[in-house]
Amino acid sequence: MRYKNILIDKKDSLAVVTINRPDKLNALNKATISELHKAFKALEDESAIKAIVLTGSGEKAFVAGADISEFANFSVKEGAKLAAKGQEILFDFVENLSTPVIAAVNGFALGGGLELAMACHFRVASDNARMGLPEVSLGVIPGYGGTQRLPQLVGKGRAMELIMTAGMIDAQKALNYGLVNYVVAGEELLPLSEKLAAKISNNSSVAISYAIKAVNAGFKSNAKGYKTEIEAFGDCFGTADFKEGTSAFLEKRKADFPGT
Ligand code: COA
Repeated sequence: MRYKNILIDKKDSLAVVTINRPDKLNALNKATISELHKAFKALEDESAIKAIVLTGSGEKAFVAGADISEFANFSVKEGAKLAAKGQEILFDFVENLSTPVIAAVNGFALGGGLELAMACHFRVASDNARMGLPEVSLGVIPGYGGTQRLPQLVGKGRAMELIMTAGMIDAQKALNYGLVNYVVAGEELLPLSEKLAAKISNNSSVAISYAIKAVNAGFKSNAKGYKTEIEAFGDCFGTADFKEGTSAFLEKRKADFPGT
């Protein structure tokens, strides 16, 4: 299978998946989300692959979010569909993949980028990584599971602050928060991820797949939270704030929210 927006590099029992749109800071457009779905599905079916590392191309970004240029003109219905479909084919899909997925966060992980890293089974980061959920600065909310997975990982108060301020935290703070498990220099990021993947590969992949299922089951009681997020995300698309927020980003100016 040939992909346009991602690269796949297989080494023994490990596959490294690299999101490859560096000129757009690896922003997740529809095509990339669809390719990632196909790639994860194919890798899960390949029994020789025991672990997957997901990273971004270039030195600047893991993923700078969902592709704002693609959804700025969406209606409420299209907005809700965007979130629901994305969660189904990528974010929930990765979280429930039976093959372990490690996010190697090599720079900005913002919005959908942080949501994708959080959907992975655990995260390592380079020391230049910066993470945040800036959606409310665009007049929208996180729509790919961020309102659910961020509080799971860092606690409610820290998640509320990050979401409301739309601020970014650096790698060290992400480590203190438990959002990432390790912080290393950029050149050490893939070697460390591969070392962890190799350690995982020595163990029973069947047992690991059951462990993933069991750990995830403990968090399934919040299905209503994900549903509420999708509906609320869609509702944002009907607001004047959303029109202003996304227009301001695309016009490279500061948003002046009307508050309606
Ligand atoms: N969607 C679409 N395009 C994006 C993008 C996104 N989420 N993030 C970055 N890009 C594009 C920029 O538009 C720019 O494209 P251009 O060169 O064709 O104009 C290119 O990627 C480089 O980004 P730029 O903003 O010039 O880099 P920077 O170093 O000045 O700033 C960020 C880096 C990450 C702070 C900034 O790109 C940003 O704020 N991105 C959006 C983050 C966000 O709100 N994500 C949540 C989306 S819901």
